[in-house]
Amino acid sequence: MADLDDLREGNNFGLDTEVKNQSFYLKGCDNLDWGLKDRLSRIFNKKSGRTVMLAFDHGFIMGPTSGLERIDLNILPLAEHADCLMATRGIIRASVPPTYNKPICLRSDAGTTILTELNDNVVIDVADAVKINASAMAVMLAIGDKQMEAKTIANLTHAVNQGQKYGIPVMGVTAVGKDMARDARYFSLASRVCAENGANVVKTYYCEGFSNVVASCPVPIVIAGGKKLPELDALELCYKAINDGASGVDMGRNVFQSEDPIAMIQAVKGVVHDGLSPAQGFELFNDLKG
Ligand code: R5P
Repeated sequence: MADLDDLREGNNFGLDTEVKNQSFYLKGCDNLDWGLKDRLSRIFNKKSGRTVMLAFDHGFIMGPTSGLERIDLNILPLAEHADCLMATRGIIRASVPPTYNKPICLRSDAGTTILTELNDNVVIDVADAVKINASAMAVMLAIGDKQMEAKTIANLTHAVNQGQKYGIPVMGVTAVGKDMARDARYFSLASRVCAENGANVVKTYYCEGFSNVVASCPVPIVIAGGKKLPELDALELCYKAINDGASGVDMGRNVFQSEDPIAMIQAVKGVVHDGLSPAQGFELFNDLKG
C-alpha cells in the first residue's frame, strides 16, 4: 500500500508547452499499435530509419550450407554488427545466447526442402514467437506459384492475424516462383500483395526499376542479397537498393560466405546507415579485412 500521508499535489503542468503529437518514423506505420511500433523500432535504426538484418535461416531448406556449418563459429561473431538476427526457432534456441538481447526476426514458416518441392510450408504457433521474444515474424509467400500461392498467402494472413493480436510485426518474404521473371513488375506485384494482406515489412529482391517496387509498396521494404557476389558488387547492390528507397537489407550469403564476413557486415552497415558509396564501403571492407 502506498504511503498516504504527505501526498503532494502536482503543480508543474508545463502550461506553456503544447503536448507534441507523435508520428512514427517508418513508412505506413503511423496507425499501428504500440507494441508493433516498439518492436519495429528495435529492428530499424531510429536515426537512419534503416536496418541491417543478418539472415541465416537458410539451413531449414538447405541444411548446413557454406558459411553456416557452425552457427557458433560462423554467425555469432557477426551478431554485434547486425541490427537484427533472422533465423529459425531451432537455431535460435540451440545456438544464439539469449543474453545477446538482439532483436530477432523469427523465421515462422517451415516445410519442404531443396530435396523435394520448395515452399509447401506451414506457420508456427505465435505463442512460440512470444516466448522467443521475437521482434518480428517472417513468413514466405510464393506469389505466382500455382501450387503454393494460395497456401502461402493463407500462411501470411494467419501470421498477421496472430501478430496483430500480440503486437508482433510480420515480414512478408517474397520467394520467386520458378517461372517468374525477376523484374519490377513481378516484385511490385508480390510486394504489394504482402502489404495488402497485412505484412508490416516486405522482403524482396533488387531489380531494375526498383524505385517503382518501393513506391508502390506502402510499408518498408528490405532486400535479400541472393547468391554470393564479389564483395564490391554486393555493396553496389545494397547502395542501389537504398538509393531507390529500400529501408535496409536482410542479407545472408553475401555476408556469411564473404572471404571476411566480419569486415563485410561492417561495410554493408556503412552503406546502409552511413551513406558510404560502394567504393567507400569496399575500401572499408579492405581496411577491416583480417
Ligand atoms: C530465404 O528463404 C531466406 O529467407 C534467406 O533469409 C533470404 O534469401 C536472404 O538470404 P540471402 O541474402 O542469402 O539471399
